[in-house]
Amino acid sequence: MQVVGPETGLVAAPGHSAWLARLSLSQFRCYAHAQIETDGRPVVLTGPNGAGKTNLLEAISFLAPGRGLRRARLSEIDRRGAGLNESVPAVNGAAMNGMGNGAWAVAATMMAPEGPRELGTGREPVAEGAVPEANRERRVVKIDGTFARSQQKLGEILSMTWLTPQMDGLFRESASGRRRFLDRLVYGFDAAHAGRVAAYEQSLRERARLLKAATRTGGAEAAWLDALEESMAGHGIAIAAARRDLVSRLARACEARVGGFPVAGLVLTGEVDRWLDDRAALHAEESLREMLAGARRRDAETGGSAIGPHRSDLAVRHLDRDMAAADCSTGEQKALLISIVLAHARLIALHRGATPLLLLDEVAAHLDQTRRDALYDEILALGAQAWLTGTDAEVFAALGDAAQFLSVREATIAAAPPSRNAPGHLS
Ligand SMILES: Nc1ncnc2c1ncn2[C@@H]1O[C@H](COP(=O)(O)OP(=O)(O)O)[C@@H](O)[C@H]1O
Ligand SMILES: [Mg+2]
Repeated sequence: MQVVGPETGLVAAPGHSAWLARLSLSQFRCYAHAQIETDGRPVVLTGPNGAGKTNLLEAISFLAPGRGLRRARLSEIDRRGAGLNESVPAVNGAAMNGMGNGAWAVAATMMAPEGPRELGTGREPVAEGAVPEANRERRVVKIDGTFARSQQKLGEILSMTWLTPQMDGLFRESASGRRRFLDRLVYGFDAAHAGRVAAYEQSLRERARLLKAATRTGGAEAAWLDALEESMAGHGIAIAAARRDLVSRLARACEARVGGFPVAGLVLTGEVDRWLDDRAALHAEESLREMLAGARRRDAETGGSAIGPHRSDLAVRHLDRDMAAADCSTGEQKALLISIVLAHARLIALHRGATPLLLLDEVAAHLDQTRRDALYDEILALGAQAWLTGTDAEVFAALGDAAQFLSVREATIAAAPPSRNAPGHLS
C-alpha cells in the first residue's frame, strides 16, 4: 500500500505509522485497572452502552496536550464508586503518580518510526494536608521515564485526532468549539501551538481582570497592561499565522475526495486573520498591540476583548452542495467532519512521516455502507491506528482480519473474534 500525498503528489512510505502497542489505565473512570496490548492494526471496541468504550478513548486522548476528548475536570475522572479503596497492583509504570491515592493515570508504549517511547500521564494528587482550594488541578506528563516540563512535549511525539458524538453540533454551535477543533489540528504540525494558545488565553483573562479592577479603583496599572497586551499581540498573531497555514494546507488536501465523502471547503475568518493577507506578521502584531491599547476603556465595560484570534472562526462549506456546513443535514455534517479528519491524517502522515492516531467514537454506525467502506479503506491505506467504537460488531465486519477486535463489558476488556461473516474485501 502507498499513501499518495494530496498536497504534493509525493508518496509517503508505508509502515510509518505511529501506534500504541500497550495501554494501561488505573483509577480512570470506570476502570480500576485495565491493560491492552495491540499489534498496530486498527482497534475495534464493541460493547453495550456504558461498558467503558468512550472512557478508553478518553484515556488515550490524554496522551495529547489539553483536556482530553470530554474536556473534563481532572478530578472528575478519578474512579468513583464501589471498591475504591481496594488495593490495585501497580503494573508497568501506570502508577506514575503513586497508586492508592485515587488519582487516575494512563501509561502507554508508543511505537514510532524512530522506535518505542514510553508515555505516561495522570492527575497530580493534592499534597497531603494541603487546602484543596489552594491547589489547582494539575496533570503531569512523563516521557521515557522523565517528567516533562509541559504537556506540549506530548504533541511533539504523537499526533492524534478524534471525533465524538458530542462534536456532531460543531458546525451549528458556537465558534469556540470550531476554534478548539482547528487548534487541535494545528498541534500535529506545530506542537508549540498548544503552549501559545494557553499563554494567549491566560493574558486575555488577566487583562480582563485587570481592566475590571481598574474601573473600581480608578487607576489602571498601565505597565502591567502593556506587558499583557504585548504578550497577547505576539502569541495572538502567531496563533493566527499557524491556523492560517493549517487551513490553507487542509483546504487543498480536502480537494482530493475520499470515497463517498463530501469535499469540504475551509476558510478561516476573523479580523486579525485577514490582516495576514497583506501584512507581515510583525506589522500585524504591532496593529494588534495598538488596537488592544486603544480599546481598554471599551473592553473594561464589556469584560472581554473585541479583537484577537479568540474571535476567529473556521467557516466550512459542503462544496458539492454549495452550502454552509451548518445548513447541511446531520449526516452530511458528520461526513464533512470525517472528510476533514481524513484529509488532516494524510497531511500529517506526509508532514511528520508518521500517521496520527484516530479516535473515532461511534462514527461507523452512522454511515451508510458505501461511506463506511470508504472510511475503512482510507484508514487501512493510511496505515493509521484508528480506534473505533460501536455497540454492534457487525458494523465493522468488513474490516475482517485487518483490524483487532476487542470487546468491552462492564469495564473489562477482552479479545473478541472478528465478526463472523467477514467478507474480507479489504484484505
Ligand atoms: N469517574 C468515574 N468513576 C466511575 N465510573 C465512571 C466515572 N465517570 C464515568 N463513569 C462510568 O463509566 C461508564 C462507561 O462510560 P463510557 O465509556 O462513556 O461508556 P460507553 O461504552 O457507552 O462509551 C458509565 O457507566 C459511567 O457512568
Ligand atoms: Mg460511548
